[in-house]
Amino acid sequence: MRQMEWFPVPIALWSRQRALDGIARTIERASDIMILVTGATGTVGRALIDHLRTAGERVRATTRHPATAQLPTDVEVVRADLSDRSEVAAAMRGVDRVFLLSTGPAIPEHDAVVAAAAADASVARLVKLSSGRTGDDTATDPIPTWHRAGEHAVRASGVPWTIVRPLGFMSNALHWAGTIRDHGAVYAPYGQGRIAVIDPRDIAAVAQVALTTDGHDGQVYTVSGPQALSPAEQTAVLGEVIGRRLGFVEVEPEQARRAIIDHGVPADMADAIMALRATALEAFTSVVHDTVERVTGVPPRTFRAWAVEHAAQFRSAAA
Ligand SMILES: NC(=O)c1ccc[n+]([C@@H]2O[C@H](COP(=O)([O-])OP(=O)(O)OC[C@H]3O[C@@H](n4cnc5c(N)ncnc54)[C@H](OP(=O)(O)O)[C@@H]3O)[C@@H](O)[C@H]2O)c1
Repeated sequence: MRQMEWFPVPIALWSRQRALDGIARTIERASDIMILVTGATGTVGRALIDHLRTAGERVRATTRHPATAQLPTDVEVVRADLSDRSEVAAAMRGVDRVFLLSTGPAIPEHDAVVAAAAADASVARLVKLSSGRTGDDTATDPIPTWHRAGEHAVRASGVPWTIVRPLGFMSNALHWAGTIRDHGAVYAPYGQGRIAVIDPRDIAAVAQVALTTDGHDGQVYTVSGPQALSPAEQTAVLGEVIGRRLGFVEVEPEQARRAIIDHGVPADMADAIMALRATALEAFTSVVHDTVERVTGVPPRTFRAWAVEHAAQFRSAAA
């Protein structure tokens, strides 16, 4: 092997090297913090992991299925079911910050398990993904009720917390991809209801800022996209983006419920989803919040931008 030649380092190069060493030390320091991401294989979790890796943070991710999780190789993947206290406690070892994402009827139980484990592990910061509708005190349907109980467990844990309450996800439109491809149409209930839908990447961006910068403890962030849209308006945008005239057919709520169950969702969860969907008719869901830009410094993405990025999933093979 050819020996490296040694030359005296010119002063400018030496200073540059010192500066680079300083940057390396800063990155090292940032990456000394271990951030645990639950729900890591889901829509928001994957987006959050992307943001955190880009920022050079160390990430540990939980999943019930590590072998098939397809998470980036520089992420430490840990098996944990959020109902299993010992698995959650093990995942929490050496963790400084936690992103808590739970779903379905188990939200109250899972949030209590994670919040207690975070307190035991002296975690410095916990960010819980909740639901926009939890902010409506009159809401008594299942999903806000579950999240309200989860938020309570987080607040009572003694761990400094931030709660992120998104309105409807833009990615819910992916449920329409099959009928758009096959029939050139969207079939959905509550056609008049407008929701200020948000790109899950913007939810993740808010969570990233809350996890990695100071000043967010005790904050409740209701986050939305930049514009309230009805399903028919979203359908029109999708049609323009993929260059195909799409129909919008309003269906009865019971038909929509049946379709959810036919997709394999348990009846109680289908009822919870339908109760939430019905609230699209309320003014609450159409309020545009400036939170994404306020917290991240960047305006939230539009539904059109989201649709452009996901256009391939709405195009039929023949198109
Ligand atoms: N969709 C909307 O419009 C909307 C609006 C507001 C709020 N939200 C809230 O957003 C959350 C859903 O986020 P998302 O869409 O990103 O989730 P998602 O894509 O449905 O993914 C669910 C994640 O939860 C994990 N998970 C499920 N059961 C688990 C268990 N028992 N133990 C450990 N992990 C478990 C899954 O991991 P593995 O399968 O890998 O274990 C997966 O990573 C819910 O809290 C929902 O209420 C949704």
